[in-house]
Amino acid sequence: MTLDLHTRTLPAGDAAALAAADVLRGGGLIGFPTETVYGLGADAAAPAAVARLYAAKGRPSFNPLIAHVANLDAARKIARFDSRASALAAAFWPGPLTLVLPKAEECTVCDLATAGLDSVAVRIPAHPVAQAILRAFGGAVVAPSANRSGHVSPTTAAHVRADLDGRIDLIVDGGAVDVGVESTIVSCLGAPALLRPGGVPREAIERLLGCALADPSPAAAGEHAPLAPGMLASHYAPRAQVRLDAGEVRPGEALLAFGPAALPGAETACATRNLSPAADLTEAAANLFGFLRELDAGGARVIAVMPIPPHGLGEAINDRLRRAAAPRD
Ligand code: TXA
Ligand code: MG
Repeated sequence: MTLDLHTRTLPAGDAAALAAADVLRGGGLIGFPTETVYGLGADAAAPAAVARLYAAKGRPSFNPLIAHVANLDAARKIARFDSRASALAAAFWPGPLTLVLPKAEECTVCDLATAGLDSVAVRIPAHPVAQAILRAFGGAVVAPSANRSGHVSPTTAAHVRADLDGRIDLIVDGGAVDVGVESTIVSCLGAPALLRPGGVPREAIERLLGCALADPSPAAAGEHAPLAPGMLASHYAPRAQVRLDAGEVRPGEALLAFGPAALPGAETACATRNLSPAADLTEAAANLFGFLRELDAGGARVIAVMPIPPHGLGEAINDRLRRAAAPRD
């Protein structure tokens, strides 16, 4: 495929939603905002479009994609819901939750997008721009995060352009996203299992279900599926080395801070960003990927990261930071 496309950018609005739907119908690729991160969208029913998506992203094609739909009627056309899945959908959709479900008989999501599994990951995004595009298009849109494979996820249209200019047809600019980390993924193939922590905290899901979420098992994730996204250890890697749970800043390091406390050596940091001076995990999630990009762009060799509490959205933040810190292949 050619990777020298002219990538248009349009401000969000009715004209952009129609243009995005046209691109999707023509087998093209769009970058668009969801409440979690920007997505790289293609027609879920078109294998050629999905193949272009994998190529544009440089993603290994064994990684199955999330199908995004506008509403529950559309979700029920592609997946089967048991009572627990229905309860989760009613409580958290539209929103930052993805459910892995058995494929419906008439599921139109192509095998390339589900990596040949007989399950499918489904999400109804809450973002008004994503909603407008899905309604204008009418079908399911598969969308991983709109970054090159191995880079951190994009939370602004400028991040999408930095990674995918010339590789996709259209970017719809809806401003900075709200949540800032990807959706929580729950498998409902057996006992509900947490495949990836994300924008809906584990505690909220467990309260709704009245039981603990299981750990992912091969049965829950589908026999040939990667157990959890980021089996690729350095999935969220910036160029800089990431040092977690820093108790001090060492010479030459950049600092990713959290909360009001000052670290010893902080004044020597070559650059500093504070995820949330008020120690608010929601604010920290929204800032995470953008601040990693900024510190990386500043040329730091090491980013020291202060400890982040493990509860609520902290589980997803710590998960992404551990991946960013993992040894590179
Ligand atoms: O917030 C999000 O979820 C963003 C926005 C754009 O919606 N999307 C996103 O997609 O993060 P992606 O491709 O980075 O993550 C999707 C993950 C895959 O890594 C895969 O492991 C899991 O979902 N997945 C998809 N289908 C699956 C299936 N049938 N069984 C198990 N896991 C599945
Ligand atoms: Mg991603």
